[in-house]
Amino acid sequence: MMKFDNYAVFGQPISHSKSPRIHKLFAEQTGQLMDYAAQEVPAETFAAATSRFFADGGIGLNCTVPLKELAWQYADQLTERARQAKAVNTLARQADDSILGDNTDGIGLLNDLTINHGIALKDAKVLILGAGGATRGIVPPLLEQQPSTLIIVNRNIGKAQAIAEDFAALGAVQACDYANLKDRQFDLIINATSASLSGDLPPLQADLLKAGGSCYDLAYANQATAFVTWGLANKAAHSLDGLGMLVEQAAEAFFIWRGVRPQTSPVISLLNAERALNNTNG
Ligand code: ATR
Repeated sequence: MMKFDNYAVFGQPISHSKSPRIHKLFAEQTGQLMDYAAQEVPAETFAAATSRFFADGGIGLNCTVPLKELAWQYADQLTERARQAKAVNTLARQADDSILGDNTDGIGLLNDLTINHGIALKDAKVLILGAGGATRGIVPPLLEQQPSTLIIVNRNIGKAQAIAEDFAALGAVQACDYANLKDRQFDLIINATSASLSGDLPPLQADLLKAGGSCYDLAYANQATAFVTWGLANKAAHSLDGLGMLVEQAAEAFFIWRGVRPQTSPVISLLNAERALNNTNG
């Protein structure tokens, strides 16, 4: 009988996760024998559920909200990017049964921005909205691309300052509050707040986006998020949500686990087409 290796995503809530579908498509595309399940796991039982998963022969695990920091604590070893992010979205069992923690969110965002959409970051003026865990994961890979400006804006400016200070050695990154954004303009605005999840929008002035600039919401939904709608209303060249990033971070995780790089564009196209169809039918 053919042996299927076991993978899973843990999170809460998890029922709407697209990860099982994405990894199934990757496995079919690359001929890998693997199962990938979604399991509802609250923070309180994360460590026990993860230990059980690996003890039962599991090979790789994705962790999503609210478990990324716990996964960071759980891992026996961390990649440099996971160490910097203080968050782990991918756990991988190693040959000696130790557990490696990685964070593929930042590279997933970069690949979607630069490869899939041709958005150049070098010398660009970039603004990040929000200063939570998601921001911490994307600041180091963005700084690597050498934007001319990287500003983190947050209601609670202390949180933005703390992240800016943590990564000051990697490049020029500053903190700001919303009131002080007046008269500034950006080539790229990335929404890393959790506002989209509740349909809210941070307070953004109308001329914040330069002509020809782009908007990117790390969140995704079946309908355009409030921030994607804001980008469209403000004539963004691209106003994107995080579906592409989701597929790209999954591809990096798949590569870590299987050593094989799946093609992402057919999967992104398929998920986008299904979403458009659902919206038409709904
Ligand atoms: P995550 O780990 O997903 O980044 P988080 O750590 O809870 O989530 O951070 C959420 C971020 O969204 C915070 O920066 C929060 O701003 P504050 O720190 O000032 O609370 C930001 N946020 C949430 N709702 C927002 C809203 N309606 N407008 C602006 N910022 C918002």
